[in-house]
Amino acid sequence: MGLPYSFFVRPILRFADSEKAHDLVIQGLSSFGQSSGGQRALSAMYHAPELPIHVLGRLFHHPLGLAAGFDKGAEALSAWPALGFSWVEYGGVTRFPQDGNPKPRMFRAESEHALVNRMGFNNPGASAVRDRLISRRASGKWPKVPIAANIGRSTKTPNESAPSDYSQTLDILWNHADMFVLNVSSPNTPDLRELQEVDHLSSILSECGRISERRGGGKPLLLKLSPDSTDDELLASAQMAMRRGIDGFVATNTTLHRPVPSNTKSRSVFAERGGLSGRPLQSRSAEVIRLLYEEAGSEVPIIGVGGIDSADSAWEAMTSGASLLQLYSAMVFKGPSVVSLIVKGLSRRMRDNGFLSIEEVVGYGNR
Ligand SMILES: Cc1cc2nc3c(=O)[nH]c(=O)nc-3n(C[C@H](O)[C@H](O)[C@H](O)COP(=O)(O)O)c2cc1C
Repeated sequence: MGLPYSFFVRPILRFADSEKAHDLVIQGLSSFGQSSGGQRALSAMYHAPELPIHVLGRLFHHPLGLAAGFDKGAEALSAWPALGFSWVEYGGVTRFPQDGNPKPRMFRAESEHALVNRMGFNNPGASAVRDRLISRRASGKWPKVPIAANIGRSTKTPNESAPSDYSQTLDILWNHADMFVLNVSSPNTPDLRELQEVDHLSSILSECGRISERRGGGKPLLLKLSPDSTDDELLASAQMAMRRGIDGFVATNTTLHRPVPSNTKSRSVFAERGGLSGRPLQSRSAEVIRLLYEEAGSEVPIIGVGGIDSADSAWEAMTSGASLLQLYSAMVFKGPSVVSLIVKGLSRRMRDNGFLSIEEVVGYGNR
């Protein structure tokens, strides 16, 4: 079923500049993918099987969703379920509109199946995204799967004012997502990662908690963490977040570390500034999932993301402790058929190992 993508779409995208290729995909999906005919056509090619799991008070058809950053402005929301994803995280959205860093700012290392990006939260800003989502709902095109919003700090807002920057975006988007991910771990906004330190984190979570309370609650707040923090730093952030009532963790964002390049093209990609995603991130992401699961597993669900591009890597993330999964880079290197391949592979492994439901698999490797 991956034939149309690998034979026609991918060869064209390979030769395009990485960001142009990405923009073409979003353009295509935000027009074709929003019509019911377009969605039927995509579903016919990319439909993923059911592997239901209850997490965060919701039922997910299967664990695998689209990671933040692909649909920053929530332009193509209805297309993602048609491509097989069981849930979607849009954003990162910031309080103020931003152009992000100068282009080029996204690079592909084909041999390593890795991307380096320094987008810098290019997005139309919280109010514009809210308006877009109000129109979507009014036109009856709200997707029937759980939707998460990824919230970042505006570049012009200093860290001291971060709590109100995050909480205002949360307030603006409150009616337009089922759950919210507070992103304090992107490497591409100066000083952002300092917000993982307990004092900053405590203020951000208190402010956001206040908004949630005022709005009547019921929408989980999650925290997305960096793979580059030490284990002690991660545990300190996680413990603080749990004291402030966090509902889930997302592990992990991109890394500043670089693997050894296998050729000169990759060497030049890895020399670019920015966060690396894709296959080389997988083992550290799995490690962070295990660390968080040991600390919080029975209380707070973990969403595993980072280098998931096969049933094996997805299985490792779930047995390490992830209840839900996400991917970004695998869409670039393998195309949308990777979603159903992964879900089918998870389902097979689950049965082969004698589990009756995917929920039983979560953290199994850690017990
Ligand atoms: C181009 C690009 C933009 C991204 N933008 C965001 C973002 O806005 N917010 C966020 O939390 N993560 C962002 N991410 C990180 C992804 O959500 C994900 O955590 C990371 O890419 C690891 O997953 P992967 O290996 O499947 O790509 C971005 C990643 C890429 C490649």
